[in-house]
Amino acid sequence: MRRGVFMSAVLGVLLVAGWSAAQFLPGNPMRGQVIYQQSCARCHGTTGAGDGPDAQRMVVRPADLRSPGMLLKSDLELLRSIAYGVAFSPMHEWRDQMTDQEMWDVVGYIRTFTAPQAQPISDAATHGSQPHGASKQEAPTLSDTRVPLRLPAPVQEGMRLTMREHLEALHAIVAALAREDYEKAAAVAHEDLGFPKHHQAMQREAGATFPPKYHELAMVHHQVAEDLAGIIPSKDMKKILPHLEKTMKACVACHQAYKL
Ligand code: HEC
Ligand code: HEC
Repeated sequence: MRRGVFMSAVLGVLLVAGWSAAQFLPGNPMRGQVIYQQSCARCHGTTGAGDGPDAQRMVVRPADLRSPGMLLKSDLELLRSIAYGVAFSPMHEWRDQMTDQEMWDVVGYIRTFTAPQAQPISDAATHGSQPHGASKQEAPTLSDTRVPLRLPAPVQEGMRLTMREHLEALHAIVAALAREDYEKAAAVAHEDLGFPKHHQAMQREAGATFPPKYHELAMVHHQVAEDLAGIIPSKDMKKILPHLEKTMKACVACHQAYKL
């Protein structure tokens, strides 16, 4: 009952805040930081690395809140872990000690650990196609906070091609699943989205420098596609769909963070 009341309150906040606002942190990260340092840092560490003083003697290590896997979790999933804790781990529930708003604030602060950072301009950008003087940092606007990659023109072309092939691969996977051709679906997930695709993409992007966080997101995206390829032979759509969702979430997470 309590859970029902709580979750509907949470959904209410999400609905009121609206989709775009929910993406731009319904919680206040600055207030969240204070709560985090008081209640969470002793396990998760001041930087979120999972290396707080209490972590040393734990069998289940505190989650590394900076890991790119965190980007695959929705705000609501993070909120749920904080509110209800994680079963069989020292991560207990916090909903008795914090208000809903405080938990949202902490979620907002945790999100800053995985926020992409504008990188100092790399070699790739200085030798790139940008007109002279265009390499100054563009200030992010409210409507577009994505970090520009500033790649040389040929690399941009190669990347766009890879991206269009990603979308074709997703379509091929869904089409094969709809025909119950599981073998084909698994093969496409592995070859066209998994690690073999990474090697092809690297050849096309030879010489370009990417921000480390971008690289991590790319690796997560290949890994979740491999996981999808692994589960498809089960022929169990109840298991396959959540993996397909994670695969698409990995596309969305990177698209929200970076642009060419
Ligand atoms: C006593 C140590 C401890 C404290 C204090 C603690 N955590 Fe955790 N937390 C953990 C451990 C251990 C895990 C890993 C659980 C697992 O992987 O099974 C975890 C996991 C998490 C996760 C990931 C859950 C998931 O969905 O994978 C989040 C998010 C999190 N903690 C946030 C917080 C926040 C926010 C606070 C402070 C309000 C906090 N934790 C306080 C130990 C702690
Ligand atoms: C690691 C980051 C990353 C991942 C993962 C990623 N993309 Fe992209 N994608 C980008 C960037 C950056 C752009 C350029 C966006 C811009 O400049 O507006 C892009 C552009 C695209 C485009 C437009 C291509 C064009 O011709 O302009 C498509 C389609 C696309 N992505 C599909 C996908 C699909 C489908 C997936 C997942 C299977 C995916 N992407 C995963 C970074 C990523």
